[in-house]
Amino acid sequence: MSENFGGSTAINSLNFTTYDDADTGLKTRRGQPVWNESSVDELVEGQRYSTWPSIEKGCRGPQPYPSWLIEDAAAMDTELGILKTGKEGDVFLIERATESRSTLLAAKRYRGQEHLQFSRSQAYSEGRSARRSRDNRAVKNNSSYGREVAALQWASAEWTYLRRCHEAGIPVPYPVQIDGTEILMEFIADPENSRAAAPRLQQISRNDPRLPALWDQLADAMEKFVILGIAHGDLSAYNLLVAGERLVVIDVPQCVDLAGNVQGLDFLHRDCVNMCDWFTAKGLPRDAEALFTSLLASMFA
Ligand SMILES: Nc1ncnc2c1ncn2[C@@H]1O[C@H](COP(=O)(O)OP(=O)(O)OP(=O)(O)O)[C@@H](O)[C@H]1O
Ligand SMILES: [Mg+2]
Repeated sequence: MSENFGGSTAINSLNFTTYDDADTGLKTRRGQPVWNESSVDELVEGQRYSTWPSIEKGCRGPQPYPSWLIEDAAAMDTELGILKTGKEGDVFLIERATESRSTLLAAKRYRGQEHLQFSRSQAYSEGRSARRSRDNRAVKNNSSYGREVAALQWASAEWTYLRRCHEAGIPVPYPVQIDGTEILMEFIADPENSRAAAPRLQQISRNDPRLPALWDQLADAMEKFVILGIAHGDLSAYNLLVAGERLVVIDVPQCVDLAGNVQGLDFLHRDCVNMCDWFTAKGLPRDAEALFTSLLASMFA
């Protein structure tokens, strides 16, 4: 679990450098450990041993594993900083490394604390089966136990949808593992700067020549969602990353079941309106009703 971060201090055996965050947009950055024989058994703040070996098989990403995935039990995870503080949790940049190779991961950690509102959960999750009625009552009553349960439920929902989307060929970050309220996934990097997150679609300007191709990728992804029987439910230019030419859909915990949720089609319609309005405002007119109708046709095909 994420609590493993912050182990004993052995800073003198590691060479830590601090960076400012101008290049990557990271809020904090703790620097890089330098591997040497005396350092491998010692952890500094912001480090833990890779949690991969202790993760149950069902909590690991789908096979085949991508070539960049590190399974080595001796790997270490180093927290490099916060990518974004969000409504339900925070997204951290993690480096998972062995002596010979390393990979960057995004860690989305859901919070169960007091100030968080999970009130929107009811409309989205209607139709999902309730495993434990005691848990559902606690979530409803917003008790501290309920907030913990809600955080676990959101993480679990995001994990399930990430896997389903990945397996259906929807461009989402590869889901690496889930451990309680922490999901590790592929870090979608900016091709210009491998340690910075890819920009959100929101940051793409009106004259960007990639807009038509990005629209095509989005329409294709939305069609794949409805073929799976779900809608993203919170689609916006903030939940789409643009890695060079590639559009990546993120933030999927609130996906809605189109058949089981009576408001499912309303969420799908809202996604269509949000995205068509955004592209239209950028000078690429798109019709939400036409998109919605064509998605309904794909759904019932
Ligand atoms: N896999 C990833 N690779 C790179 N950056 C990511 C990744 N996942 C999330 N981010 C960054 O973190 C931000 C927040 O992620 P996400 O939308 O999933 O969380 P959220 O809690 O819903 O946040 P918000 O409230 O801002 O929507 C993204 O806009 C993006 O900048
Ligand atoms: Mg988001």
